[in-house]
Amino acid sequence: QDRRRAAELVERMTLDEKIGQLVQQRGGGAVTGPDKTELSVERLVREGRCGSVFNIKSFEETERLQRIAVEESRLGIPLLIGADVIHGFRTIFPINLAVAASWDPAAAESLARVSAREASAMGIHWTFSPMCDVSRDPRWGRVSEGAGEDPYLGARVAEAMVRGYQGDLSDPSSVLACVKHFAAYGAPQAGREYHAVDMSERVFRDSYLPPYRAALDAGAATVMTSFNDLDGVPATANRWLMRDLLRDELGFGGFVVTDYGTIGELKAHGVAGDDAQAAELALRAGVNMDMMSAAYLFHAAELVREGRIPESLIDSLCREVLAVKFRLGLFDDPFRYQAKEREKCYYAPEHLDAARRVARSSMVLLENRGGVLPLKKGSRIALVGPFADSRWDLIGSWVHFAEAGRTSTFLDGLRARFGADRVTYARGCDPHKALEGGISEAVAAAAKSDVVLVALGLKAGESGEAASLASLALPDAQRDLLESLKQTGKPIVVLLVTGRPMELAREAELADALLLTWYPGTMAGEALADVVSGDYNPSGRLPMTFPRTVGQIPIHYDMKSTGRPADESGKPNKYTSRYLDVPNSPQYCFGYGLSYTTFGYSDLRVLTPETAVGGEVRVSVRVTNTGGRDGEEVVQLYVRDLLSGVTRPVRELKGFRKVMLRAGESREVTFTLTPDDLSFWRLDKKWGQEPGDYHVWVGHDSDCTLGGSFRITE
Ligand code: IFM
Repeated sequence: QDRRRAAELVERMTLDEKIGQLVQQRGGGAVTGPDKTELSVERLVREGRCGSVFNIKSFEETERLQRIAVEESRLGIPLLIGADVIHGFRTIFPINLAVAASWDPAAAESLARVSAREASAMGIHWTFSPMCDVSRDPRWGRVSEGAGEDPYLGARVAEAMVRGYQGDLSDPSSVLACVKHFAAYGAPQAGREYHAVDMSERVFRDSYLPPYRAALDAGAATVMTSFNDLDGVPATANRWLMRDLLRDELGFGGFVVTDYGTIGELKAHGVAGDDAQAAELALRAGVNMDMMSAAYLFHAAELVREGRIPESLIDSLCREVLAVKFRLGLFDDPFRYQAKEREKCYYAPEHLDAARRVARSSMVLLENRGGVLPLKKGSRIALVGPFADSRWDLIGSWVHFAEAGRTSTFLDGLRARFGADRVTYARGCDPHKALEGGISEAVAAAAKSDVVLVALGLKAGESGEAASLASLALPDAQRDLLESLKQTGKPIVVLLVTGRPMELAREAELADALLLTWYPGTMAGEALADVVSGDYNPSGRLPMTFPRTVGQIPIHYDMKSTGRPADESGKPNKYTSRYLDVPNSPQYCFGYGLSYTTFGYSDLRVLTPETAVGGEVRVSVRVTNTGGRDGEEVVQLYVRDLLSGVTRPVRELKGFRKVMLRAGESREVTFTLTPDDLSFWRLDKKWGQEPGDYHVWVGHDSDCTLGGSFRITE
């Protein structure tokens, strides 16, 4: 129906109007043409030469531009209005990597649902999210925007977010999702932003494709190309990615938008000599919409006229865009998203409550010596550090629509929970600089307190796009502050505010407790108070490995065995795969995280010890809360394919379940492994299973040891 209506409309459009539907510009801006004339976006919309705008900041402006499109352009085709709504719109949730650390797809879905309700109230139809890029290099700043290093966890988070954003697309409180950045953007060489990506098709299919695929299977309507090249072909000109894989193999039926300016960047990549050639490559690759290069705007018509591309190609790319506009119901009512009264839902109590729940469940307790957390009742607290009272830094990056004044800081949260007279605050230092008298003020605050909470880490702008780092250590000024606080002899709790794994060996020694808070969002203060007071028992687990040192990168739990696996248990053998100066093991492994209680695992049973290819395998385990407090455990299942036509990872996550157990409670948890869970890119270059023997482990993190085995037969 939508496609038929789109096809009929295309028949009535001029070439320029059809190209216009393939053009996206930032709202309020202007474009300079090859003849140096400046064209405002408003004029382009009026002339039917711009079909989509993005990152407009007000209801009035989205409405004004939409009115121009439908009332003043010749055919009245409505605009599609997009925005980067990444981890919240007004109500900001923790950053996406943190949401993954909750190991709870429902948390990701609630972030997306709340974002969709709030964003759509401003007239936004489409968010450029979820980011589905598996990322294994913490030097890359954008690890903060994804779900971390693992394809299985990433896939569960990605599909949940699509469900949350799109829900039922006939409901105007839903928004279109955009699977980005297709593809493999999370693997830039050396972790340097926008750098080249080169990997085998096997690594790509086994480790990087699953989250994109899961998001598409969940029905994501749009896809964004990535900045990088892959095997020598920039994604935006990559016909194999955009046509053979995305459309033909994965069956994608929506449309593809470029990342910001990536058609123009084909010149810098060295595959296009000018904008016209760049446009030609992107069009041929099947890229529908040009975000911000204006290469389609100024060159697509001439390409058709010169016979370099057929008009039928423009027609089909345009049909795909229009079909989505029809699907959203914009032709029936272009203003169906425009309902000023819906803006009342900003910061609705249920939105704030959801943000707080997700924030506290994403925090990861990395150390807790002597049970310093939760804080003893009546403790006098010194709250120190450059992030303790920072409204912008606690909400992270990609928060175009946030109002930082709404952030409840750690200081706000602790004072509200423990009483203002119980919390003494001292900034101590700036993120990268000592403050005159800062350390002595902090030490004085510590001296009159029972416990010191020190909020250290990285500024919000040091995570996210264009925020690659070569060092993952805490800045010197902050380390000096921590060393001085240690001298006071008071118990130290480090609150680590970051969007990426960091080198923490020294901090782990100095701190009695180490709580990874990430960038927790609008409800930072309440969520922190929930955790440190013990009202909430921490349940976050690491979605990325924390290395001991940058020199170990890339380091992730699902590495290969190699022909000479290191045996670090006894006398090390030099001629094995290892470092001379550090162990192979990380500081904190994937899946790791402590609780205020403890959990025990027993009775692992492989209920299907043998099955034929295509069959399911069931595994059960008993999990017991062996400590004295109620708490949630993330039960994790890993497998290893022991013998195969190609080398396989030493273990791979293939199931997880977050369960609440009362103190002393015990429960059996059962997993079902599907054929797809046990499939991989085989030697014959097909996705599928192989018969053979497998090992399976279930436990608390990727180092768990309780195991069993099963066999897949022909
Ligand atoms: O959506 C983003 C993308 O992730 C990075 N470049 C800019 C786009 C639009 O703002």
